[in-house]
Amino acid sequence: MMGMALAVLAGCGQEKPTEYEGWKLVWHDEFDKDGVPDPDSWIFEEGFVRNKELQWYQSQNAECKDGFLVIEGRKERVKNPDYNADGKSWRESREFAEYTSSSVQTRGKREFLYGRFEVRAKIPVASGAWPAIWTLGIQKPWPSCGEIDIMEYYKIGGEPHILANAAWGTNRKDIPKWNSSKLPYAKFISRDPEWAAKFHVWRMDWDQEFIRLYLDDELLNEIPLSTTVNGSEGNHINPFKTPHYILLNLAMGGNGGEVDESLLPLRYEIDYVRVYQKKKEPYTAFHPGKIWEDTDGVHINAHGGGILYHNGTYYWYGEHKSEHSSSALVGVRVYSSTDLYNWKNEGVALPVMPSGSGHKIEKGCVIERPKVIYNEKTKKFVMWFHLELKGQGYAAAEYGVAASDTPVGPFRFLYASRSCPGVWPQNMSEVEIAKARSFKDFSRKGKEWKQNVIDGMCVARDMKIGQMARDMTLFVDDDGKAYHIFSSEENHTLHIAELTEDYLYHTDKYVRILPGGHNEAPAIFKKEGVYWMITSGCTGWKPNAARLSRATSIWGPWESLPNPCVGEKAELTFDSQSTYILPVEGKRDTWIFMADRWRPKNPIDARYIWLPIAFEDGKPVLKWADEWKMSE
Ligand code: DGJ
Repeated sequence: MMGMALAVLAGCGQEKPTEYEGWKLVWHDEFDKDGVPDPDSWIFEEGFVRNKELQWYQSQNAECKDGFLVIEGRKERVKNPDYNADGKSWRESREFAEYTSSSVQTRGKREFLYGRFEVRAKIPVASGAWPAIWTLGIQKPWPSCGEIDIMEYYKIGGEPHILANAAWGTNRKDIPKWNSSKLPYAKFISRDPEWAAKFHVWRMDWDQEFIRLYLDDELLNEIPLSTTVNGSEGNHINPFKTPHYILLNLAMGGNGGEVDESLLPLRYEIDYVRVYQKKKEPYTAFHPGKIWEDTDGVHINAHGGGILYHNGTYYWYGEHKSEHSSSALVGVRVYSSTDLYNWKNEGVALPVMPSGSGHKIEKGCVIERPKVIYNEKTKKFVMWFHLELKGQGYAAAEYGVAASDTPVGPFRFLYASRSCPGVWPQNMSEVEIAKARSFKDFSRKGKEWKQNVIDGMCVARDMKIGQMARDMTLFVDDDGKAYHIFSSEENHTLHIAELTEDYLYHTDKYVRILPGGHNEAPAIFKKEGVYWMITSGCTGWKPNAARLSRATSIWGPWESLPNPCVGEKAELTFDSQSTYILPVEGKRDTWIFMADRWRPKNPIDARYIWLPIAFEDGKPVLKWADEWKMSE
């Protein structure tokens, strides 16, 4: 086949070219080598088929011959090893299968996420034949794994149909959701009475937005991925945003109808299976606000992120978000890069614990703004994050700590806690502490509430259990000392707490800064002895104006300055909220302001706003750019 491959031939079912502009052939099987299907790519699924209506046994009736994979449906009696005359289950109910055929699959061998899938095949259409080309997500169980039927041929109401479908839904096989296109086979025969004697090309074009299913270039079904999110029992994931494997299957009986034994053996002939993926040119610039694909072509999922530079590589840690929930259903993700433009998915650095485990980082908790620093002394990578316990909204206000021997993890969860219980901040005087202690009514009411918070009411209230610790970042100073900077006191006051030498705990030395300032999303950097901090106001997922402050000691005093953003949408931080400021390694005075453009209705689709920090009149300035590069 390959010799002819570049020729573009017109017409139904003709062999297709192996090159498409903008696409790369990532895997294909032309079935050119006679014998069993290539074991590097295919496995046989063997055994009695689940559906008791079917009368066939999945055997090894598939062979490559003369450039085709031929799956045969034969009359062959096979005894059911599970048969039990008194048995009630489908497994036990049938003593014999009357026919054998095959299901060949790329499971565990070839799995793909997105791309163009092409299968050229001649399908058997005799009564009893139920051929299919389909894919299944690698996560089980069905249908939450997702199923795509690039081709199915079977009877509906006794009439043969060609179907192009997707199924997904929940973990319960009795309640799948379907998007089906069912075309009467008669339609194809009326166009071409020789249709069944010919090869046809079934194609799927699958990307982050649509699954499009074609037969001989005619679109049979278009399935928007915005509609294919599993329900709660399927964990709210979109199974069509996960890798799938391919199945070539010939079932007999069942919906294929009564087997017409006079037409056996059935022959399902497959000329080739080809998978293309979009050729991705590496990024050479930042494109704030646009989909940012990782090196696999998938939008990066690392929100509220932070970056660690280690041994020539940048590691980006962030919250894995899903389509319907901002809660932690997966954990903290990590990506790696050497140029900051192109990021490789390194998987889940800190996985959540199973649902129902009661663990502090149980699936469904809230993990936000993870940051990782490297401890030279212990050689450990240490992650801190904001943790809210499952089912408690934002009441817990804890920080969590995890550690790993490698930058990509897996990180081991160590503990989570409120901050510095029993300890007063360094920058509260005896008089101020006495005043804070005098508060007896902590309820959130009255005009004086805000002043009371400024006067330390929340600090006193939380003295025993520890201070609230929400939005956060970490900062390692030139002397190797590290600090945890976080929103505390009901988000009204920031705290800066020093970390122990191993970076695993607070030393209990901490200060309150900008009391009553209502700051979230702290991000910090240092230039020539001056600490600069950019924060946001507190408006939930909605953007607001960034704030700037500076100090010559990390302990303060911190001076508030106007919004560092200028230009259109400056008052909304260009529709985003700060998360981290990255000093670019080896480039003098180069910092990147990293922010999130949240999408609370579809959290996974939140965008990354990375902008350069310029200095004007001795102060940091942020300006919008649709596209920008770091200077060479
Ligand atoms: C704003 C914070 O900065 C985010 O991290 C998140 O906690 C949202 N609020 C929740 O509304």
